Amino acid sequence: AIDPQFNENREKEGEENGVAVWGPVDEPEELGIRGTHVAVDYDLCIADGACLEDCPVDVFTWTDTPGHPESDKKAEPTKEAQCIDCMLCVDVCPVDAIDVDAG
Ligand code: SF4
Ligand code: F3S
Repeated sequence: AIDPQFNENREKEGEENGVAVWGPVDEPEELGIRGTHVAVDYDLCIADGACLEDCPVDVFTWTDTPGHPESDKKAEPTKEAQCIDCMLCVDVCPVDAIDVDAG
């Protein structure tokens, strides 16, 4: 599962599409965690898609990640600022790749 303390345990390496990138990153095999309030561990995401289907405010969009061992696309929390902290995405992700900091 995603480390809920990722922002203390990892280094922020920059941003992609306006979304924070928390390393380590070694593309294409290792992609790190993306987002801060809504965070997705790209190295766990298997592109199940439940988060995209269920989020009531459409926080997530697909981003292509060719060559990643788990899946060739990931759920990017592009609109994390719109999150209403319903926690649906956290509940439905089959691999516990999502952390929402509702505190
Ligand atoms: Fe969307 Fe709710 Fe997840 Fe926020 S907590 S990203 S509103 S599903
Ligand atoms: Fe990925 Fe989990 Fe969403 S596997 S696509 S973060 S439901």
